[in-house]
Amino acid sequence: MGEFYLTDHPMIVHKLSVMRMKETGTKDFRRLLYEISMFMSYEITRDLPLEDVEIETPVSPMTAKQIAGKKLAVVPILRAGLGMADGFLNVVPNAKVGHIGMYRDPETHTPVEYYCKLPSDIGERLTVLVDPMLATGGSASDAVTLLKNKGARTIKFMCLVAAPEGVEKLRLEHPDVDIYCAALDERLNEKAYIVPGLGDAGDRIFGTD
Ligand code: PRP
Ligand code: URA
Repeated sequence: MGEFYLTDHPMIVHKLSVMRMKETGTKDFRRLLYEISMFMSYEITRDLPLEDVEIETPVSPMTAKQIAGKKLAVVPILRAGLGMADGFLNVVPNAKVGHIGMYRDPETHTPVEYYCKLPSDIGERLTVLVDPMLATGGSASDAVTLLKNKGARTIKFMCLVAAPEGVEKLRLEHPDVDIYCAALDERLNEKAYIVPGLGDAGDRIFGTD
């Protein structure tokens, strides 16, 4: 069974509270999402294996450590996931980037896929799927299925705010995927929005409504 990590560092919790406030505008919302994504990316990469490498400092030779093993890919779910991919790339600049386009049908709240472009060697990479909101879990679960169908084998999901319903669905349908989130909220409302949540993440990042 994949792990569920609540990355509730005080800096993350504080920044998320500011993002939740309805007065917070697009510029600050986007910057805070970028900053939190950076902090969360440190947690997501915590268990990357290290290997020895021989180097020379200006003073002497030494056996130092470098990251070994699988390379990484980050895959934002469009649109709102784009706001998290930048923070991840600041921590892992060599990661390749894939894109999955999905929107929720306003009536049924089920995801509709409209775009998919992934690195061709996705099967050899640790793939980090990013989207700020895990609400019903439909978008994240379908995106993981798509990644697996395209060959991805090791997948982690990073989000900002999750609803219990979404966590349950993703864990049920993809028990091998580790989930990282900054807050587990109370519930979904009748429009399948997270309560208390932060509203529509895509609209708040891009200034649409
Ligand atoms: C939002 C969000 C997730 C999805 C979560 O995207 O960014 O992708 O909803 O909801 P779910 O867990 O119920 O599937 P949205 O459909 O609003 O598209 P957008 O990012 O283009 O605004
Ligand atoms: N998508 C969002 O952007 N916000 C929610 O609360 C649920 C889905």
